[in-house]
Amino acid sequence: MIVGSKYYRLNEIGSTNDYIKQILENAPEGTVVVADVQSSGRGSRGRSWYSPEGGLWMSVLLKHHQNCLVSLIAGVAICETFSGYGIDTKIKWPNDILLNDRKIAGILPEIVDENVILGVGINLNVRQFPDDLRDKASSIFIETKKHLDPQSFYHNLCKSLDTYYGLLKNEEVDALLSKWREYTLMRGRDVSIELPGRLVVGKVLDIDHQGGLIIMRADYAIEHIIAGDCRLLN
Ligand code: BTN
Repeated sequence: MIVGSKYYRLNEIGSTNDYIKQILENAPEGTVVVADVQSSGRGSRGRSWYSPEGGLWMSVLLKHHQNCLVSLIAGVAICETFSGYGIDTKIKWPNDILLNDRKIAGILPEIVDENVILGVGINLNVRQFPDDLRDKASSIFIETKKHLDPQSFYHNLCKSLDTYYGLLKNEEVDALLSKWREYTLMRGRDVSIELPGRLVVGKVLDIDHQGGLIIMRADYAIEHIIAGDCRLLN
């Protein structure tokens, strides 16, 4: 198994993604860093990520250059792992995992040289959120009243990440995309996506081989969007 080939467990750290950057030169592929608490957890687009005790905050070092596809494997692996516990989570492109319309996990893939540092934040047993997050964010504990054992969840997630990373390594992207379609709530939805300098509004048709969203605009033009802030309109 590549994922988890080396494992660091820390009590408290600024950010597990940043920790991997510090040890990058001597870290083999698949190195995982897990922290109980992050004091400066980072989210997408420069936002901070609330990382108290009770969550699973981890980063994996992968020798791959396509961060969007790496993000897809993370989304699929997270949903598959939850599904093993009978919990039906959904992928909101590009990096959110939702349960009951609330965000319960986020993915932060960062490219450094020829590597992707895959950051995964899962609000497993987080008991409460600050006021400004309460409407959008939630945890498995809050939504289901189930307490999932973080250690066994971690092992199941690594197994699943390893499976889908294997597909990516073997260039079996179609198989990966089929799995993504199973777990996403995006297809057929109307969305607006904020890009630098413009807003794309349209209906989601599918995902492409780079992990980009395929959108049909109102004028029937087709756009492939590789990254952006996405809002669901219906
Ligand atoms: C998002 O905004 O949706 C992405 C959140 C990613 C959070 C995880 S927690 C582990 C890793 N370390 C960080 O600082 N961020 C990611």
